[in-house]
Amino acid sequence: MSDSSNQQWGGRFSEGVDAFVARFTASIDFDKRLYRHDIEGSVAHARMLHKSGVLSNNEMAAIIQGLEGILADIEQGKIRWSVELEDIHMNIEARLTERIGETGKKLHTGRSRNDQVATDIRLWLRDEIDLITDEIVRLQKGLVDLADKEAETIMPGFTHLQTAQPVSFGHHLMAWYEMLVRDYERLLDCRKRLNFCPLGAAALAGTTYPIDRNYTASLLGFHRPTRNSLDSVSDRDFAIEFCAAAALVMTHLSRMSEELVLWTSAQFDFIALPDRFCTGSSIMPQKKNPDVPELVRGKTGRVNGHLISLLTLMKSQPLAYNKDNQEDKEPLFDTVDTLKGCLRAFADMVPHIQSKPENMAEAARRGFSTATDLADYLVVKGMAFRNAHEVVGKAVAYGVKEGKDLSEMTLEELRGFSDAIGEDVFKVLTLSGSVKSRNHLGGTAPNQVREAVRAARLHLP
Ligand code: ARG
Repeated sequence: MSDSSNQQWGGRFSEGVDAFVARFTASIDFDKRLYRHDIEGSVAHARMLHKSGVLSNNEMAAIIQGLEGILADIEQGKIRWSVELEDIHMNIEARLTERIGETGKKLHTGRSRNDQVATDIRLWLRDEIDLITDEIVRLQKGLVDLADKEAETIMPGFTHLQTAQPVSFGHHLMAWYEMLVRDYERLLDCRKRLNFCPLGAAALAGTTYPIDRNYTASLLGFHRPTRNSLDSVSDRDFAIEFCAAAALVMTHLSRMSEELVLWTSAQFDFIALPDRFCTGSSIMPQKKNPDVPELVRGKTGRVNGHLISLLTLMKSQPLAYNKDNQEDKEPLFDTVDTLKGCLRAFADMVPHIQSKPENMAEAARRGFSTATDLADYLVVKGMAFRNAHEVVGKAVAYGVKEGKDLSEMTLEELRGFSDAIGEDVFKVLTLSGSVKSRNHLGGTAPNQVREAVRAARLHLP
């Protein structure tokens, strides 16, 4: 490369770019990970140029062979990226010309880096979404299997983090499953909307060559070409949508994490996590810390941050392409990496969650979780619900004072609050009686949980 000019646009310039500016404006350090999709896009573009009569048979063959050679070199770590060549697109193009000579300079006919990069990110993100949704399904399968096993295990259900009513642990796990069903659908929806091919938009206005955009789009597995050239090169909605969907997945994983952290504490002691998902303390010998859920909860912050970065990146951009867009990559890449890591950790860990049914049941009893059942019992006996609520409230206050659950009181004690109470009351005061009686679609009865498990297994790919 000459001192005074860049080889890609030397004609217009009288001096070379400042060394710091070259580093400052370069994206090769991070966009090199688009290499495979950049080459895939270039091969399709070359085929299209050939079909349209712009490239000869030999030219197309030389270009494709050259690109395949470069791909092999990259995968074997034989390529040294150059900051002077700014980004992945110009690095590969320069390499191609080095390899095959003048014909390499024809690849960029009818194309710009603007439609090229818009295509590359879509191709790359489409593949990543497929990996991510696979990982969501793996996690869902783990949850469903565990829920099946734990359908009869009873824990306290909470509102306001105060003991509310007993629920099946399996039911709780299936609630997590439902969050992931929505996440999966959101990602598929995002994939559908990004699956359009910007190639042919060129810099912003289209090109004078007789291109066939439908052909390029179909070679690359896109649904069809994008419609408007200005929009094609400037649109990053798909990246924002993806980050929004990712932020929701992370929010869900973070809520699960919070519960796992609580449940593994000595105060709850509802579950144990295998040692290999935890770490110890360098000073406190007794410690076993739930690092994996804690880290997942923490990493949610950076993914939420990336969503805001991208929204802010786009908010003031005039049409069409602006260099600002180069800043879309790092947040997007980190979102993908973070999300994949967190999903993998969760999918690996969830099948090994060990419940402690005794502790869960004990906690449910301590919290008067069957109080609503007693009120409902009194309603069946003819009392208005508001009055029943009052009666049970007094019984609970007595239980708090005496240190007794409702089910531990004698019939005599209970009848002190209402003579509508009979021997049959003890059936509704047990945890399992309470859980079993919520037996309808979406309820916590163990057979409803098993039904939800069955439906999930049919639904999962
Ligand atoms: N590295 C650039 C990016 O990431 C590629 C497109 C550059 N286009 C341009 N006209 N400077 O967006």
